[in-house]
Amino acid sequence: MASSSSTIYHATATAPVNIAVIKYWGKTSTKLNTPTNSSLSVTLSQDDLRTITTASCSAAFKSDGLWLNGDTHDVSGARSQACFAELRALRKAKEDNDPSLPPLSTYKLHLISENNFPTAAGLASSAAGFAAFVRAIADLYELNESPTELSRIARQGSGSACRSLFGGFVAWEKGIRDDGNDSVAIQIAPESHWSTIRAAILVISDAKKGVSSTSGMQATVATSTLFPNRASIVVPARMEAMKKAIIERDFETFAELTMADSNSFHAVCLDTVPPIFYMNDASRAAVRAVEEINRCAGKKVAAYTFDAGPNAVIYYDEENQDIVLGPLKKATANTPGWPDKYSHINTTLPEGFNEA
Ligand code: DP6
Repeated sequence: MASSSSTIYHATATAPVNIAVIKYWGKTSTKLNTPTNSSLSVTLSQDDLRTITTASCSAAFKSDGLWLNGDTHDVSGARSQACFAELRALRKAKEDNDPSLPPLSTYKLHLISENNFPTAAGLASSAAGFAAFVRAIADLYELNESPTELSRIARQGSGSACRSLFGGFVAWEKGIRDDGNDSVAIQIAPESHWSTIRAAILVISDAKKGVSSTSGMQATVATSTLFPNRASIVVPARMEAMKKAIIERDFETFAELTMADSNSFHAVCLDTVPPIFYMNDASRAAVRAVEEINRCAGKKVAAYTFDAGPNAVIYYDEENQDIVLGPLKKATANTPGWPDKYSHINTTLPEGFNEA
């Protein structure tokens, strides 16, 4: 296509939310955004929770910009800048190889992004956000880099974002190199490997979280005496056990590890000075409800996990939908602060489930 100074090039990409079952919490380098421990997540269905981003660039644009759900967002910070720089360098290498390509690497970028879920309420919005950001620019630049290679870039935007470049079950291996280049995400298994697994999201609060993940984890690393044991001993063992549970589709072990790791993460938050509280009374009611559901079933049929906010994510296998969702709804119906909104990922609700 012949280009003029007013030509606008664009590409649109979506990225799903992922919810960690082995949590990332702590950085070895804030500059490279590398983690103190590896982590593992399940990517949710794109149909339910996702960010959609259109990246455009033009010789006519005067500055880089990002609009999220209609509001302007600052892109002058080190994280967005690191992603821009890495992606432009890859595009520049392509242009150097093929001088007939338009010089998109020299143009300013505009990103228009939309989330269909609460932003910054512990629903991993930065994960889907930076993953869609990187994917959309990579598509605009027609880059051929693999999702793992793009995950290295998305990681620099927000750690958990590197896992949202894949569907299914995804590990972020912390890496051992000083330059952070081996701190990337890999897929452990595609969604089709265990397609009966479901996640119900209980939106307890869609308010913006009090302590951001970034500042919370830095405070934990600096002050928690429980933290070194978690990062160097507890999580490495859990990563291996979790990979095995996923490969074997062993829900009971998956559930046990998921709940243990959520509790361990919130324990190091409480052990931080000053303490960080992400869970609230309604979150704790969800924990008790899941414990009761599992007790009645005589085995683990449900697993809770909480990120940096009060909202609960409950994993279960499709075959146990009724014995998990029914009692969960009953148990929570009269609890103040309980969600008026349930989101069920990858699942069709039982008839009448969402009715009062
Ligand atoms: C509790 O990825 O938001 O959700 O790298 O500073 O942007 P930054 O942190 P972020 O932290 C996510 C923390 C978590 C656990 C997880 O997703 O693994």
